[in-house]
Amino acid sequence: MMDVHNFIYVFFLSFFALSAASKNDVYSGYTVHGVEVKDRGDQEILQEMVISLDVDLWQYGFPGVRDAIVMVASENKDEFLKQLDDNGISHYLHIEDVTSFLNEQDLEVSRWRASKRNAVPFEDYPRYHEIDAYLERIASQYPEIVTIVNSGPSFEGRSIKYLKISTTNFTDTSKPIYFMNAMLHAREWVTAPVALYSIHRLVEDLRSQDRDLLDNIDWIIMPLVNADGYEYSHIDRRLWRRTRSFNPAVNLTCYGVDANRNFNVSHNTIGISSDPCSDVYPGHIPFSERETGYVRDILHEYIDRIQLYLDIHSHGNYVLYAYGDRSLPPNALDLHHVGAIMGAAIDVMKLPQAGFYLVGNSALVLYGSSGSAQDYGQHVGVPFSYTLELPGYGYAFSVPPRFIAQINEETWLGIAASARVSLQYYRARLNISN
Ligand SMILES: *[C@@H]1O[C@H](CO)[C@@H](O)[C@H](O)[C@H]1NC(C)=O
Ligand SMILES: *[C@@H]1O[C@H](CO)[C@@H](O)[C@H](O)[C@H]1NC(C)=O
Ligand SMILES: *[C@@H]1O[C@H](CO)[C@@H](O)[C@H](O)[C@H]1NC(C)=O
Ligand SMILES: [Zn+2]
Repeated sequence: MMDVHNFIYVFFLSFFALSAASKNDVYSGYTVHGVEVKDRGDQEILQEMVISLDVDLWQYGFPGVRDAIVMVASENKDEFLKQLDDNGISHYLHIEDVTSFLNEQDLEVSRWRASKRNAVPFEDYPRYHEIDAYLERIASQYPEIVTIVNSGPSFEGRSIKYLKISTTNFTDTSKPIYFMNAMLHAREWVTAPVALYSIHRLVEDLRSQDRDLLDNIDWIIMPLVNADGYEYSHIDRRLWRRTRSFNPAVNLTCYGVDANRNFNVSHNTIGISSDPCSDVYPGHIPFSERETGYVRDILHEYIDRIQLYLDIHSHGNYVLYAYGDRSLPPNALDLHHVGAIMGAAIDVMKLPQAGFYLVGNSALVLYGSSGSAQDYGQHVGVPFSYTLELPGYGYAFSVPPRFIAQINEETWLGIAASARVSLQYYRARLNISN
């Protein structure tokens, strides 16, 4: 028996290794470089090369704090390095062979999955159907506090679902709503476990010290917005970021848009490319994508009570707020306050190799953008609307699964802290004394 089992195990491992090898061949010749950005000017040079040389900014960098990490295709590599040298920007090789880097990460994921049969999906990189099964199970097992909602189909027909978690079936308007979603960007795999783990902690594993989070706050959690892109990044292209819509009137070869440029706020203005094949193509109109429309619909339906909206991304250790054009909302100080509390709460248990969370306006801390979910939340009136960038530990989008539990735990601390402090703001807004 033992031998048979081992044989099957080995067989599956080599099968995964083989299929992984062919899958990642599309990145053959790609290299990844560390770039020592000294100032804003250096960052802007990199930002321009995203458009002109189609480089992929894995990490934007922050002068004096962390280097930028940039992936480039072989045909653009010489020009990319020349422009860095011409501008006196130091750089070094970070990943020599992206294909074998991704193969190794795939192998690690398949080993992890093989060793954790029947594992809970928030300790893993679950596929769409596993996430869907988890949401359905939680809803049917805890009907007194959980309602599952199907927003509708993705472009390819997958149901995009979310959970509403409440002790009062969302009827008590003295409670604020905390709305979070994950996976607008397909390749940012570690974001879905964080959303699923939050469900777990609120429903299956509510600890006495967190009782207030469920008693005083209603929750909306959508773990997998861009389900099509996510599945595509599992099966086909690991570094796929966009949705998977096809619009022959726009382009016959390139699919999808950047979901986080597709919202109706300063749409198609800053930090975008009009090339329909670009990773920052915003779509020909706002909400061209059904999936971003579903997020919009939740924001609109509950706008009076959503006190905090959290759009979870990976990676870089940032808490970011509006607006992507560098202008600040009127409550910028409060936004900074709550964001700093979130970041500091996470930092308490961060790993030594992770950066401290940086908190600030997304255009000042990172780069200019338009049409983002974070900006849209702020624009329609959510008091506290954030982008959260989880840690990458140098692995960028391929965070090894052994780190998932760590990221879940530490991020939950930040979510809990931000929920509590935003509740105080909500009560002040409603003139409810504590
Ligand atoms: C919650 O309220 C909705 C109406 O908004 C209703 O359809 C549903 O049956 C209620 N669920 C429970 C558990 O009371
Ligand atoms: C699609 O976009 C690519 C890249 O910009 C371009 O080369 C190609 O001509 C476009 N095709 C169509 C049919 O518009
Ligand atoms: C975008 O917002 C503008 C201004 O609020 C509105 O007129 C327009 O209809 C919206 N477009 C879409 C596609 O939602
Ligand atoms: Zn992202």
